[in-house]
Formats: sequence, structure tokens, C-alpha cells
Amino acid sequence: MKKEYSAIPPSMTALETYGFSWMDFVTAIPSPLFVATTYKPDGKTNACLQSWACFTGNTDGFFAILSAVYKKGHFYKTLKETGVCVLNFPSAACYDRCAATIRNNQWEADEITASGLTAEAAAEVNAPRIQECFLALECEYRWEKALIEGSDHTLLCLEVKNICMDEDHLDEAARGRYGETGYLYNVHYPVGPETFTGKAHDYLAVLKKFRDMGEY
Ligand SMILES: Cc1cc2nc3c(=O)[nH]c(=O)nc-3n(C[C@H](O)[C@H](O)[C@H](O)COP(=O)(O)O)c2cc1C
Repeated sequence: MKKEYSAIPPSMTALETYGFSWMDFVTAIPSPLFVATTYKPDGKTNACLQSWACFTGNTDGFFAILSAVYKKGHFYKTLKETGVCVLNFPSAACYDRCAATIRNNQWEADEITASGLTAEAAAEVNAPRIQECFLALECEYRWEKALIEGSDHTLLCLEVKNICMDEDHLDEAARGRYGETGYLYNVHYPVGPETFTGKAHDYLAVLKKFRDMGEY
């Protein structure tokens, strides 16, 4: 039997949503986890864990669409000042240190080193990379658009100018891109909307290749 949800389910009305839509938690669609890094004006590193994003390419280039960037945060400010950033993809081995950048978010902090990670200069843009992350996408800012007029979050488009990827992760027979050593996903508050009680939780997820898609 299918269920319809166009209004918040009664079991969820008391849930603390931290500004998210209740629909986020009913769908709990996974999204990839990465850390967006920039330089602050004094040369210290800024790091912002992100997951509301998708990636798309065609003959015009390869682009990252970040769909919920907080406009009062340091990432937005430094990206607009420098015009460039790096999107760093952690595997489980360094996720906790990447998440620690949230605690080390002070404007005076060198956020990558303060979180026990190693900063290195990107190859093609003036922004730092996190050495421990297996994939770095070096990006230039292209444009932004508010999803809703006046929102304090914005959707923005970055063009990828350079890819730096660990060769063990490029090789599916070694560490690969998927499974427990590959990309991490944010599973955001998956709740049972009919029966929900208590507190919702976030989960880290990994991806498993299921089968060859074959011919279309
Ligand atoms: C799992 C997870 C995903 C997040 N995704 C985003 C996001 O997509 N956009 C955003 O602006 N903040 C996101 N945040 C919050 C930022 O990581 C956090 O507020 C950060 O400290 C802001 O850094 P900044 O001041 O350098 O912008 C996320 C946090 C977590 C824990």
C-alpha cells in the first residue's frame, strides 16, 4: 500500500527539525558528503562539511551544484571573495576529523590543521586541499540563485577545473570508490512517519554496486 504525505504527519509535529523540511526526513534521500575548503583573507584555511549537492557534466564542462549554502557562513563569504574552492571527499577513515571542522569553525582558526588534517595547496586554483581525502575537485564559482526569494541559503554552481584522486581509489580492485573505503553519504533523519517517537538521528552510509545496468 502506498502512503501520501502532503502535510506533516502527526507523529512528527514535535520533532526538532533544525530548519529542515519534514519532507527531508520522510524521504531521507541520501546525499554525498564532502568538505568545501577555501582560504580566509589571512591565508588560514576554512572548511565546511556539506552534503546537499549533485554533480553533472556534459560537453560544456563538469559542474557541482551545491543546493543549500548558508549565506552567513564562512564558506560563502570566502568563496565569494576568492572565487574558488576545493570539494574534498573523505572516506570513513578520516570522516570524524572532517566533521570536527564544524567544532573548529572560529574565524581565527586554521580549520584543516585544527581538526587533525593536513592542508596542501590545490594545483589549479588558489584554495587548500585536504590531503587525507581521496578525491579533491578544484572549482571556480560560476553563479548562484535563491531557491526562494529572501532565503538565507543559496543554490550555487561551481565549475570543476581539476580532479585530484588517490590512485588506490581509482582502482576498483584496490580501495575503489565504493563500499567501506569509498564515498560517504549522509542519510538525514530517516524516520517512520506513521510511528515516529523520540529523537531522529543522522547516519553515515556507503554505496554498494548492485549490478551491471546492461543495454538500454
Ligand atoms: C552532515 C552535514 C551536512 C552539512 N551540509 C551542509 C550544506 O550542504 N550546506 C551548508 O551550508 N552547511 C552544511 N552543514 C553545516 C556546516 O558544515 C557547518 O555549519 C559549518 O561549520 C559551516 O562552516 P562555514 O562557517 O565555514 O561555512 C552540514 C553539516 C553536517 C553535519
